[in-house]
Amino acid sequence: MFHCRKEIGSRSRPDWRIGFAIMLMLLLAAAGMAQVDPGPRGGPAVAAGVPIAGGGAGNPIAGLTAGEKDFFKNVATPTFAEVETVAAGLGPRFNLDSCAGCHIQPAQGGSSPRVNPQFARAGTMAPGNHIPFFVTPNGPIREVRFIRNADGTPDGGVHDIFTIAGRADKPFGCSIQQPDFQHQAANNNIIFRIPTPTFGAGLIEEITDTTIRNNVASDPDGRKRAFGISGRVNTNGNDGTVTRFGWKAQNKSLMIFAGEAYNVEMGVTNENFNTEREEDPRCATNGTPESDFGFNVGSIRASDITAFRAFMRFLDQPTPVTSFDSVSASSIANGRNLFSVVGCALCHTPTLMTGNSSTAALSNKAANLFSDLAIHNMGSGLADGVSQGTAGPSEFRTAPLWGVGQRIFFLHDGRTSDLLQAILAHDSPGSEAVHVIDNFQFNLSRQQQQDILNFLRSL
Ligand code: HEC
Ligand code: HEC
Repeated sequence: MFHCRKEIGSRSRPDWRIGFAIMLMLLLAAAGMAQVDPGPRGGPAVAAGVPIAGGGAGNPIAGLTAGEKDFFKNVATPTFAEVETVAAGLGPRFNLDSCAGCHIQPAQGGSSPRVNPQFARAGTMAPGNHIPFFVTPNGPIREVRFIRNADGTPDGGVHDIFTIAGRADKPFGCSIQQPDFQHQAANNNIIFRIPTPTFGAGLIEEITDTTIRNNVASDPDGRKRAFGISGRVNTNGNDGTVTRFGWKAQNKSLMIFAGEAYNVEMGVTNENFNTEREEDPRCATNGTPESDFGFNVGSIRASDITAFRAFMRFLDQPTPVTSFDSVSASSIANGRNLFSVVGCALCHTPTLMTGNSSTAALSNKAANLFSDLAIHNMGSGLADGVSQGTAGPSEFRTAPLWGVGQRIFFLHDGRTSDLLQAILAHDSPGSEAVHVIDNFQFNLSRQQQQDILNFLRSL
């Protein structure tokens, strides 16, 4: 068992740490054995919608009915990849022109790619727009929230990066301006979010509230309490049920997220979010909702948000590997064990079971998500000042770690591509993870830390 590192008073602690870190770096440099993130592992690439043997991110889940499979492949997958035009609803303000543009690493449905389409495609997608300082060629893809309104009241909402005003297909006379991001940054009023992957999202949707609540409350060996890990679910204000999608677990279902993302990221109004966020009459000239169910005699056309929902719902969870590159099976197995021993698994719950689902493929299945889907106080170092639902400024959903092996950017704002840095960032004043990260840093050998990094890259 671990003993607590002795507190030497919070004031002297950073100095002590810096001293320790420098000493360690010198020692390790001499020994040439620092633990390192092996980086994104390769793996089978999945052509959109076409299942491959042996699994892999981007595959549909096994056991879909013929109808579900057909819809996934022929309707849902291409709709998720569709690039929208102004006539089809894009804008007046937007962050990108397709779902798959942001959700693509390592396969469609995933997270931010290395080459940032917000930068690479700005010229054709948003001509005449100024590219703000935080949109860079090598990513990550970012969306922006402002913390406060001009009058000091809480904002927290997404402010889109681009406008359609410079596009050839804009309505005549549309000339809205982009927000003044430079000014907002100077006022420390800007925070960033990167795309979360949607692999296995249907399984997340089918975990019952009771399962989530019981898991958060359970503490068989008393370690959550001893380590100061509380955590609580985020809930929907109207019906009190558990919300679970997004960095702060702010949304309840894939249908809601799909409708909101279509409106917020792309500016396309739909059945769920039916009014424009920018109603300047010279720019918002389409009737609303711009995307709707097709009411054709004799042939029904599913609405786009139904297709998005189905695409994400039917995506399988990522398949871990037992070894890769020069990383051995025994190191990964050690890492998996140590991940629980040091206490990572107290928040990153390895498996939650789904309930009884009307989709047989999702019914009573093990979701190996490595998350309790609860929100935790992550301390001043990760706090972003934004509240969503009941989640406060420093609370975040335990990020599901399935698929982390093939991800490029980490943490809600994508501040690092290095798993070791992502782990160390858990440790700042107020964080519920401080004790666990101390265990990781001070009670494990270099090789054991390396085993945990190797394990994470196997997921
Ligand atoms: C400009 C990039 C961008 C585009 C385009 C985009 N998303 Fe996202 N997506 C994000 C970001 C950023 C988040 C995290 C938001 C947050 O929690 O603050 C996210 C999160 C999600 C999630 C939550 C998954 C989870 O488990 O947390 C879903 C579902 C989702 N997006 C669906 C969609 C759909 C459907 C579309 C197309 C209509 C879409 N997204 C278009 C950037 C994008
Ligand atoms: C108190 C709960 C808690 C504990 C303990 C904890 N984590 Fe986390 N972890 C989180 C939360 C919450 C996030 C998301 C934080 C953010 O994005 O700001 C996260 C994010 C991560 C990420 C980044 C994932 C992503 O999608 O970007 C990794 C990797 C990670 N944790 C690994 C670990 C490891 C390894 C340990 C143990 C050494 C650990 N965590 C312990 C709650 C926890």
